[in-house]
Amino acid sequence: MINFPANKIRTALLQRKLKVILSKPFIGLLLTGWGFSHALMAQSADGWRASSQTIEKLSKEKPEINYYEEKVPPYNLPDVLTAVNRKKITTATRWMNLRRPEILELFRENVHGRVPATPYQTSFRVINLDTTAINGTATFKQVAITIIAEGQSLIIHLNLFTPNNAGQPVPTFLLINNRGLANMDQSRKVKSEFWPVEEGIARGYGMAVFNNADVDPDNFDEFKNGVHGLLDKLPRTGDAWGTIAAWAWGASRCLDYLVTDRDIAGDKVAVVGHSRGGKTALWAGAEDTRFAMVISSCSGNLGSSIARRHYGETIRKTNAGFPHWFSSNLKKFNDNENALPVDMHMLLALTAPRALYISCAGEDLWADPYGSYLALYHAVPVFNLLGAKSTIAIVMPSFNKQTLSGKVGFHIRDGIHNMVLEDWKKFMDFADAIFGRKL
Ligand code: GCU
Repeated sequence: MINFPANKIRTALLQRKLKVILSKPFIGLLLTGWGFSHALMAQSADGWRASSQTIEKLSKEKPEINYYEEKVPPYNLPDVLTAVNRKKITTATRWMNLRRPEILELFRENVHGRVPATPYQTSFRVINLDTTAINGTATFKQVAITIIAEGQSLIIHLNLFTPNNAGQPVPTFLLINNRGLANMDQSRKVKSEFWPVEEGIARGYGMAVFNNADVDPDNFDEFKNGVHGLLDKLPRTGDAWGTIAAWAWGASRCLDYLVTDRDIAGDKVAVVGHSRGGKTALWAGAEDTRFAMVISSCSGNLGSSIARRHYGETIRKTNAGFPHWFSSNLKKFNDNENALPVDMHMLLALTAPRALYISCAGEDLWADPYGSYLALYHAVPVFNLLGAKSTIAIVMPSFNKQTLSGKVGFHIRDGIHNMVLEDWKKFMDFADAIFGRKL
């Protein structure tokens, strides 16, 4: 467990009463003395911190939600590198053979639920092909991915653009689209920054997308429709999969196709998602290690931010607003985050040793940007145990400054909850670095 300092000290630091003692030697002392004082440093030095106007505005809108750093309760984070049997994990082999499977199981049991074992068949059919897309620079394919189980079927439509002049299979971004069809327009009459195909193609990437609603509807329908209707065993148990796990499963079915497409480098596919899609991307990467990279934008509670902080959205709020997203076991942790045997740094660590990128937006306090940075910070020891050589500063970076180190990347964009071209450009810079392409 990693202990947080007493609230008093935290408050004093945040109010900058102790600013004078925040010299480097003192920081060192804090770090050795109290283990986790860097939580304070990140907020108190030059790095990003929530603006007081945003805090006040959001607090007025939702007084029951905490947006004040000094009101974050003290908590203990489960140590990602200590196994359930209390043994320290000190080698890559022990991580891969013991701790990683253990954490994955804890997430299945308590958070996302388990994929049912119902057998199914998958087939692919290219239903649209245009080799002269985007002024002749790209090829467009629409692929119908059909899943058949027990006489019923479901089709996921995958839209895919690949550059025509690549001369070799290309690394590809697979976007989980949670924002409707206008964001994945294959005619390119509507150009959405949420899926900036033209920019991706110009930089030599494949750009793939599917609509999450093809896999499972985003409403509480008692799990009657979508892939739940197709594969679920009844009665549903507390650890039955939720809708986010279903979308993640859908991303894997798209990957099943992508690895067969000769235009695509199947070992260089990044799964990308924003917000609920960002929660999904993290889980897709955890469950399916064929994804070479995970990019999670503004995914917040039960995505990239530490749940125990009780800052912005909480587990109770998510379960109340979106009762279909997670397993019903997760409801046990409403207002009871400290009892959860995992926290989101452990979810992030499940991506290791593959590449992980987290992005946040400055006004998006509902998604707790600082909590996301802390989760990444606490996941990094796992990346490093697996040879990543990532260094994440104690101080959270300021607006728009990108952190790229080893296998991890992070930025916080100035602005609202969204995923825009500015974010994508940074994702592509990260992918250039990871996949050894020229910046
Ligand atoms: C809501 C929800 C978030 C989610 C977001 C989104 O705000 O509370 O958890 O990330 O919707 O998906 O846009």
